[in-house]
Amino acid sequence: MNATATLWWDKDTGSLRYIDQTLLPVKYAVVECRSIERLARAIKRLEIRGAPALGVAGAYGVALAAQVSTKKNLKTFLSDVHRDAEILRLTRPTAINLGWGIDRVLGKIAYADDISSARTIALEEAETIAREDTACCHAIGEYGADLLPEICTVLTHCNAGSLACSSWGTALGVIRSAIDNGKEINVYACETRPLLQGARLTAWELARDGIEVTVITDSTAAYLMRKNIVDAVLVGADRITRDVVFNKIGTYMHAVCARYHKIPFYVAAPLSTFDTEKREQDVIIEERGREEVTKIGNLCIVPDAARVKNYAFDATPMDLVTAIVTERGVLHPPVDIDSILSLKSIK
Ligand code: MRU
Repeated sequence: MNATATLWWDKDTGSLRYIDQTLLPVKYAVVECRSIERLARAIKRLEIRGAPALGVAGAYGVALAAQVSTKKNLKTFLSDVHRDAEILRLTRPTAINLGWGIDRVLGKIAYADDISSARTIALEEAETIAREDTACCHAIGEYGADLLPEICTVLTHCNAGSLACSSWGTALGVIRSAIDNGKEINVYACETRPLLQGARLTAWELARDGIEVTVITDSTAAYLMRKNIVDAVLVGADRITRDVVFNKIGTYMHAVCARYHKIPFYVAAPLSTFDTEKREQDVIIEERGREEVTKIGNLCIVPDAARVKNYAFDATPMDLVTAIVTERGVLHPPVDIDSILSLKSIK
């Protein structure tokens, strides 16, 4: 099955290349990014998006910062790289992977002997993170596939697919692996207001791979569950703390409905998405601009006088989660700190 890369380093031009996700499904365009300012804008605008892809982007971002610094002295070079890393870190606050990818590369170059080796080490580490992400998605796919019945209708929200990762995907990786293992999977993709990652991106990449997908408005999900059409809800995550799963706004609503209708609610995420230090109240939920809600294209759909609340993510309490699928295995409730740490410590 074909699931092409979302972002990669182009050695010939020394630039970061990525698919501009704001243009899909109308246009497939690859951007050549050569500056931190451009990368920061790309992340803020969701040209690159999805927690694991943000981790990879953060890692490549540090490699890019190392490449573009003109400093000749190691100490001032490292301070340039750290300044740029902080610019990237602040672009989006909720997905933990962004900071995780940045810190992994910063940690590797901290003890470099000279600027040239720091540049090499940074790029090697970013490439490793990108490769590991794909490997994690395939492992998540295999573990998750076992949870789904032979014939299964899955409801998913937002895009937790190859576009949200290095490739393959977490929630959509489970679907891809299940199909590769001979299961018959039918997908309902919630459109995911306001930026339509489900309608635009999930539907695009599943259709590209020949996987049956039906797009629904977000508010159709509960009724499909009531009609016994959905066998499982399967989503990704932006950050998993001890007590909640942060994911795209609307996820909590699906989890509540799934519990009411006795449908399993699965989360698929790599261990890099876990944040065992924090609890729900410690995490900043990104709030985005009003125009994402008030406009469809150039058409204004909300009166100027109305206020708008545009949370990008919500939090689903652990007791609504049936299982979390990671690259090291499946966590079943109670999902507590010890079970998470025990998976993390498996070599
Ligand atoms: O705002 P986005 O598009 O970056 O939000 C993405 C999501 O919420 C995804 O579900 C999550 O990052 C998991 S991606 C494997």
